Amino acid sequence: MADLRVAVIGAGIIGGTHIATLGRSRGMALCCVVDPTEAGAAHAAERGVPHHADVEAMLAAGGADAAVVATPNHTHVPIATVLLKAGIPVLLEKPVANTVAEGEALRAVAEQTGVPLLVGHHRRHNPMVKAARAAISEGRFGTLVTANVQAVMAKPQAYFDVKWRTQPGAGGVMAINLIHEIDLLRHLFGEVSRVQGTISSAARGLEVEDSAAAILEFADGGIASVVTTDAGCGPWTYDLGSGESPRLPVHDIYAHSYAGTKAGMSLPDAAFWTHPGAPDWFQKMERGRLDFAPSDPFVGQMEHFGALARGEAEPLVSCADGIANMAVIEAIRSSAETGRPVSL
Ligand SMILES: NC(=O)c1ccc[n+]([C@@H]2O[C@H](COP(=O)([O-])OP(=O)(O)OC[C@H]3O[C@@H](n4cnc5c(N)ncnc54)[C@H](O)[C@@H]3O)[C@@H](O)[C@H]2O)c1
Repeated sequence: MADLRVAVIGAGIIGGTHIATLGRSRGMALCCVVDPTEAGAAHAAERGVPHHADVEAMLAAGGADAAVVATPNHTHVPIATVLLKAGIPVLLEKPVANTVAEGEALRAVAEQTGVPLLVGHHRRHNPMVKAARAAISEGRFGTLVTANVQAVMAKPQAYFDVKWRTQPGAGGVMAINLIHEIDLLRHLFGEVSRVQGTISSAARGLEVEDSAAAILEFADGGIASVVTTDAGCGPWTYDLGSGESPRLPVHDIYAHSYAGTKAGMSLPDAAFWTHPGAPDWFQKMERGRLDFAPSDPFVGQMEHFGALARGEAEPLVSCADGIANMAVIEAIRSSAETGRPVSL
């Protein structure tokens, strides 16, 4: 039974995914769509629920039991603040905020109100990622030593006709895409301790970066290299192999590779590589697979949010996680500006 009435605020690309996801999630249902555009009204009409132009109108009309915030990056903190103060649990799309400072302000509101807040890094709800994390915890990799991560995609020009995506402080490939890779790396390696980065806006010529590369060092050991672009052709990005997004085609690729002292792994093809005996590059490695039953991470995320809103769970991706992810993005930017490594 759908006991939880959920509002979706922002009915653009990912808001549409959340609206569809609610239709497949147990114990919850869409109760209204909040978005000033005609597209927002159309989503509401299609699902037979009320449409509101803004959050204030939604609250005046009776509010909701919980809300998904899928609006542009720079609106996350003000909108989530109003909702938390109104006592409404929030699933807030990434990035939690455009700066660490704004994220900290939101964390203070969440702590003062005690109202649950979940950050939308849906990959962590993928059983494949849960299996990878479990394999690491069980010691099947030994100690993680390195990772090599690519997030390469060619976004169509029309994507950048939407103003916020080209505005410094709101858009750019790091806050929109790379932050998912950072979250996954932190989930698997632990906290980042040092960053060296470089960024470029040469390919698109926009005020925001279209490409970035960074070396990350982790506090518990391990180093990773990450490269991203939204202006380069190639399928080497997690989202173009995972099948998680209904909007994106699936390719037979991997985009993340992890090397441990006992075994290796790549994602999202879920390959698990081991030697027949002791680690030795003269011996041919055997290709296995992480053991998991696939399921939709957006549904997993939404049902987890339902449990959180009912007080039955703690957030799998907390406001603190969102802030830590943004701290790494800020460190890459700062390192790129100074040419020096940044310690966190
Ligand atoms: N988790 C993911 O994989 C994923 C994927 C895409 C986008 N995102 C994130 O989701 C957010 C939205 O991205 P998008 O690409 O869907 O953006 P979008 O521009 O396609 O959609 C944003 C929508 O929010 C509406 N909006 C703007 N201000 C509003 C307000 N004050 N109140 C209500 N509605 C408002 C706009 O009219 C628009 O329809 C961004 O923060 C982005 O980083 C996450």
